[in-house]
Amino acid sequence: MATMHFDPATLLADFPILAQEVHPGVSLRYLDNAATTHAPRQVLDSIRDTMERHYANVHRGIHALSEQSTELYENARGKLQAFLGAEHAEEIIFTRGTTESINLVARSWGDANLKPGDEILLTEMEHHANLVPWFQAAERTGATVRCAPITDDGQLDMEAFKSMLTTKTKVVGVVAISNVLGTINPLEEIIATAHAVGSVVIVDGAQQAPHQHVNLAELDTDFYAASGHKMLGPSGIGILYGKRELLQTMPPFLGGGSMIRRVTTEGFEPAELPTRFEAGTPPIVAAIALGVAIDYLKKIDLNAVEEHERTLTVAAQDRLQALGGVRILGPSPDKKVGIVSFVVDGVHAHDIAQRLDSHGIAVRAGHHCTMPLHKRLGVAASSRASFYIYNTQEDVDCLVSAVEDTQRFFRKRK
Ligand code: ALA
Repeated sequence: MATMHFDPATLLADFPILAQEVHPGVSLRYLDNAATTHAPRQVLDSIRDTMERHYANVHRGIHALSEQSTELYENARGKLQAFLGAEHAEEIIFTRGTTESINLVARSWGDANLKPGDEILLTEMEHHANLVPWFQAAERTGATVRCAPITDDGQLDMEAFKSMLTTKTKVVGVVAISNVLGTINPLEEIIATAHAVGSVVIVDGAQQAPHQHVNLAELDTDFYAASGHKMLGPSGIGILYGKRELLQTMPPFLGGGSMIRRVTTEGFEPAELPTRFEAGTPPIVAAIALGVAIDYLKKIDLNAVEEHERTLTVAAQDRLQALGGVRILGPSPDKKVGIVSFVVDGVHAHDIAQRLDSHGIAVRAGHHCTMPLHKRLGVAASSRASFYIYNTQEDVDCLVSAVEDTQRFFRKRK
């Protein structure tokens, strides 16, 4: 499929939700894309089209609609496989999202493989979704969780990481791109060093898959998790990638329909991949819509997207810093992508987000599900602007002038 010329202002026409006023006379400036992205018309049309013309349960009925919906659902899996560079379609498991994917691995692989004395190596910049499931697995199995530190400028301390990696390490969990710092982690090096001590690796790709080219076969990670709603799809759908030979050895995570080959009054035999991990009626409509989101993304040059997001990041960081009294979290823009988290002296992040909202600007405020990271950075909360394909320099202009207005507003009240 040929990639199209990348012009954010033109793309905007495909996103009806972004063309609205969020308060009377105030246009929306959506800068909360690390939390969730919006869907283009093509995805919205797909949801309606599936429900209106093709909808039935998948893999079950022997009737026309069931065959159609099964074909569309499996086609969507194939699109994800191709987009992410997985070798086999059955290595793509549909889940509700990144969180569920990591929980699946922690429960299924973790419970079957971890024991007292084993170590689970994570990092200080992980989202709670790549911390809590492993703490829970450690409680169940007697394994220990360790977290590799970050540097003061928000990069993974690779020396420390390597020194913590030993033959006791059975699993490494690492975020590809931090949802707060935007830091791009050196995945190839992390995966190679982890494999050298015999550890498996799970990558939290929630903030990477929407923004960068990913080739899972080349990356050689054992597991990779991503969410559809951060890449133009609807919520409630995501994927877990796992190497086929690993997934084949893992017990099912949830029990129920579809995930069995046979059930007797004595027990059950699990199905083959991928349905072994897709118990119950899956999110059929959402999976098909995610496939359409992938079609949309495939038409855009993701290298150009990354460059565009970096341009916006540099502009936003430089201009926010020039205001004075603003601390940007994370490394320099060449080591990060698309995310600008910041702290304004004397103003709580929630007050900033509320004030920005009055200008129509949507940002996220709080700990962004990364309490250990915020503790390490010495702040309770931050405000976060995060960019995607439809954001423009005008959005950055509005963000900077609204932060300046917020500073003025709170200075006057003192
Ligand atoms: N993980 C998402 C975020 O960072 C929800 O906002």
